[in-house]
Amino acid sequence: MSSSADLDISPIAQGLSESSIRTVANYGMTLPDVVPLWFGESDIPTPKFISEAAIASLQRDETRYTPNNGLPPLRQALSDYSNRLYDQTFTPDNIVVTVSGTDAVMLACQTCLSAGDKVVVITPVFPTLFATPELLGANVVPFALEQSENRFVLNLNALFAEAKDARAIVINSPNNPTGWAASQDEIKAIMEFSRANGIWIISDEVYNRHSYEQDCAPSFANEMQEDDKLLICNSFSKAWCMTGWRLGWLTLPQQLTPTITKLIEFNVSCAPAFVQHGGLAAITQGEAFVHQTLERFRQGRDLVQQYLGDIDGVTLYDMPATFYAFIKVKGLTDNSQPAILEMIEKHRVGVAPGEAFGAAGAGHLRICYGSHPDKLEQGLAGIRDYLINFTK
Ligand SMILES: Cc1ncc(COP(=O)(O)O)c(C=O)c1O
Repeated sequence: MSSSADLDISPIAQGLSESSIRTVANYGMTLPDVVPLWFGESDIPTPKFISEAAIASLQRDETRYTPNNGLPPLRQALSDYSNRLYDQTFTPDNIVVTVSGTDAVMLACQTCLSAGDKVVVITPVFPTLFATPELLGANVVPFALEQSENRFVLNLNALFAEAKDARAIVINSPNNPTGWAASQDEIKAIMEFSRANGIWIISDEVYNRHSYEQDCAPSFANEMQEDDKLLICNSFSKAWCMTGWRLGWLTLPQQLTPTITKLIEFNVSCAPAFVQHGGLAAITQGEAFVHQTLERFRQGRDLVQQYLGDIDGVTLYDMPATFYAFIKVKGLTDNSQPAILEMIEKHRVGVAPGEAFGAAGAGHLRICYGSHPDKLEQGLAGIRDYLINFTK
């Protein structure tokens, strides 16, 4: 049989590696009774009021194309929602509805990047944030968060030195996988650097409602001015437990909206109407749900601390946000897959390899603590047993 290399496919597509998170998950899913802590989702179902809004839309036969940049009521609701959360006076022209956060990242990159551009990506980070600029032919330069005792820290001076000749900075705060979140002062400084040097900022804020310290994490939306080179990516996946719905949005200066609208036409055309009606219910009726789920994630975070906090050779960092624990494990190499596969086989629990989030993630494991506390305790007990032996 011929291989894909014989078909002369694009070198960029050829060069993509399979996500190592998928590799461990694919293995784990072949075995019975494995607690899956590898993906970034909780096991809480989408709330019924959201599904019912989508069903009602289907029953109204809303199954045709919609405007490229989203249904007007949803864009209005998203701008009202943003004005409640941020110090802003956005209008629907500052909002574009996308088919997922992943699509928002692709559209943001397509708006400002060309092949050969230097893009500084703050790592460790969700792989899409470096793979998407790479897919567009950009030259991705990873910039690692530093570790100071049990905290991740952003060295702004070093970032600015690296990014001076870049086209764009990509930042994900609150951050997957580390749980780190930038302060509003750090965000302000990056925005001022962008203005002074004409550098684009792509800010992925899909975890902005998963802060254990504030109702909403510090955001670039608080700083946005209409002539900024700023694109903020967001998603319904995390805050409203809608990972399978594929709905997200961009918040941006109004003058970018016509360009993004054209890009959407040629990427996906539009988001489905009934999915957007689900999203509208989430945005207008979902605050109580967001707070309830956060309380459960807080419980999950406490369980991680309880089960893994006292193991010699395992470092737990501060976890101010998200539903991830990124733990440093003594003796783990830059290929943690064999260890994870063994953990899955012997202890029936699976996590994500740290190196999947860039070289700065090597030596770490990522645990998603969004599962039900009973399931999570079962999984954490298995991780604990495995790590006590591994780090001996
Ligand atoms: C930082 C980050 N951005 C974007 C996404 C993608 O979200 P969506 O499900 O909306 O595509 C994820 C998913 O895990 C993520 O962690």
